[in-house]
Amino acid sequence: MLSKNVQDTAKIAEVFLEKILKSRKDKLGATIVGLSGELGAGKTAFTQSIAKHLGVKKKVISPTFVIIKKYLIRPPRPSGTPPSQGEKYKFLFHIDAYRLKNEKELLHLGWEDIISNEEHLVFIEWPENVSKIMPAHARYIYISGNEKGHRNLKLK
Ligand SMILES: Nc1ncnc2c1ncn2[C@@H]1O[C@H](COP(=O)(O)OP(=O)(O)OP(=O)(O)O)[C@@H](O)[C@H]1O
Ligand SMILES: [Mg+2]
Repeated sequence: MLSKNVQDTAKIAEVFLEKILKSRKDKLGATIVGLSGELGAGKTAFTQSIAKHLGVKKKVISPTFVIIKKYLIRPPRPSGTPPSQGEKYKFLFHIDAYRLKNEKELLHLGWEDIISNEEHLVFIEWPENVSKIMPAHARYIYISGNEKGHRNLKLK
């Protein structure tokens, strides 16, 4: 899908999230999404849109230096409306593997605990840096820019 700006990206993020949550058949462990794309492609911007959509109150900033950020999900559901797909998730994890040299570093930061909890929704930038420990059921979003500064987003 083509995104001309961050507002477009926010709409695409909603569509992709719904697809990801619907396609999740087994209930074992966290839901994990790898975000691939060059520096500045819009991986963090995408995650910020997801956080906003899920009702995360805290400001989502790039986890490049802290590697892992954990946010409480508070869905803005008015009373009387039925629970939505995303409601089983309690925490959004935003991980940036850019500065990691290998899988071991992420394992030391508690990766196994993060991905074994079904209440966790995990978005990870630079998943190719830790490809060996990405679970087989992980989904991937590919973001690429074009000469106009637009972004192309693909969900796989
Ligand atoms: N269509 C678009 N979608 C998303 N971001 C866009 C778009 N057009 C421009 N931008 C801008 O591009 C920048 C994307 O930066 P962002 O930090 O999200 O990239 P990133 O992929 O996370 O980079 P890094 O690999 O350095 O973490 C933001 O400043 C954002 O406003
Ligand atoms: Mg980023």
